[in-house]
Amino acid sequence: MQLTTAVDVLLLFTSLYFISSSSSSPLFPNEALPTKSGYLPVNPATGSAIFYTFYEAQTPTSPLAETPLLIWLQGGPGCSSMIGNFFELGPWRVNSSQSQNVEDLKLEPNSGSWNRIFGLLFLDSPIGTGFSFAASNEEIPRDQLSVAKHLFIAINGFLESDPLFKNRPLYVTGESYAGKYVPAIGYYILKKNLQLPESKRVNLQGVAIGDGLTDPVIQVNTHALNAYFSGLINERQKNEMEKVQWRAVKLVKMGNWSAARDARIEILQLLQSMTGLPNLYDYSKKVPYQTYLVTRLMNIGEVKKALRAKESIVFDECSDVVGDALHEDVMKSVKHMVEFLVKNSKVLLYQGYFDLRDGPVSTEAWVKTMKWEGIEKFLMAERKVWRVNEELAGWVQKWGSLSNVVLFGAGHLVPADQPLNSQAMIEDWVLQKGSFDNSQ
Ligand SMILES: *[C@@H]1O[C@H](CO)[C@@H](O)[C@H](O)[C@H]1NC(C)=O
Ligand SMILES: *[C@@H]1O[C@H](CO)[C@@H](O)[C@H](O)[C@H]1NC(C)=O
Repeated sequence: MQLTTAVDVLLLFTSLYFISSSSSSPLFPNEALPTKSGYLPVNPATGSAIFYTFYEAQTPTSPLAETPLLIWLQGGPGCSSMIGNFFELGPWRVNSSQSQNVEDLKLEPNSGSWNRIFGLLFLDSPIGTGFSFAASNEEIPRDQLSVAKHLFIAINGFLESDPLFKNRPLYVTGESYAGKYVPAIGYYILKKNLQLPESKRVNLQGVAIGDGLTDPVIQVNTHALNAYFSGLINERQKNEMEKVQWRAVKLVKMGNWSAARDARIEILQLLQSMTGLPNLYDYSKKVPYQTYLVTRLMNIGEVKKALRAKESIVFDECSDVVGDALHEDVMKSVKHMVEFLVKNSKVLLYQGYFDLRDGPVSTEAWVKTMKWEGIEKFLMAERKVWRVNEELAGWVQKWGSLSNVVLFGAGHLVPADQPLNSQAMIEDWVLQKGSFDNSQ
């Protein structure tokens, strides 16, 4: 076994040569590389920058300059969009395989990727999140206006980096705490557009929010009833949860944002300890989402190199520093921004049926309080049974520019649970086809 033949040496040499001369490796195959990735500066004076990965449409059905562009923002606050990229809707997802009792990471193509016919841009926002770089903690946004200002600079930087990008129809999408970010940047873009000459405007066409936290005071009040009618808690437990919920609402009315945010966490912890559920993201699951696989993948040097991320950054799934910076923002509502967006573009809300954090009941509760002339018609609109390949995919309710989708068989991370149905949803909504056909 000690003998080394000339062939072995040659093989060793060529494989070393291959690894050192190529940006790809067996773990990160060339086909899995983003079309573009790196940093979009938000403040050239300090160097703070938003990390991005961009994947061009795989099989576009229109010339690229006219092909829709989706932006994805993760929640948290402070969680990385690389979770969305490598665990949910990106073209390659991480999985683990057991070989000789060693757990190996591997990337697998995702047939439900959202870049099948659209360009797809993942942004690690706000700065300090994922691979994004914050020159100082003071520069990390503490409210949605500051989040939007940074995103606006980064998005414009991206759109100007290639003439193919500038005029493409743009859709901002995201999940969970991005229920704040998505309305904030959408609103900011539309307001800016009013002051800009046509050639400088951002071609925003719509926003989509999955399992979002958008109007927290109303949403926080739905946990007890939702759990009770799902059979997860009894009436005595419901009453106990309601007391904490009312405290959260009272704290918001007093403007004590920090204590109100803590009360919300207390409600979720109470529900989890009462039910003993492994997690509230999906009450049908016995095992929580294995997003730690993404963290492990992102901390491998060759992966950082392949993605053009700063190798000195230790990747965290969610940043506590960013979470702390936005502590007082958590309970603040952005509903008025959604009202502006629904009047001036189009809005998709979607939720996984099994989500106990920001699911269907939580969303409908705030939607029905929207100030918008179409809201009565939306609330009376038929909730249509929605099928994909003849199987039940969920339910779609639509009127005018507002659509709401509940996805069957999905939890908080909808595209992770229902890749193909989530793909069908986003494609049909953007292209106004199928259940989203305006002429129907
Ligand atoms: C991960 O791999 C296992 C087997 O190696 C497979 O059963 C499972 O479906 C894969 N998960 C995903 C999300 O593709
Ligand atoms: C907010 O509420 C907490 C808990 O009730 C309390 O300890 C704190 O003093 C309050 N802060 C303010 C600014 O009122």
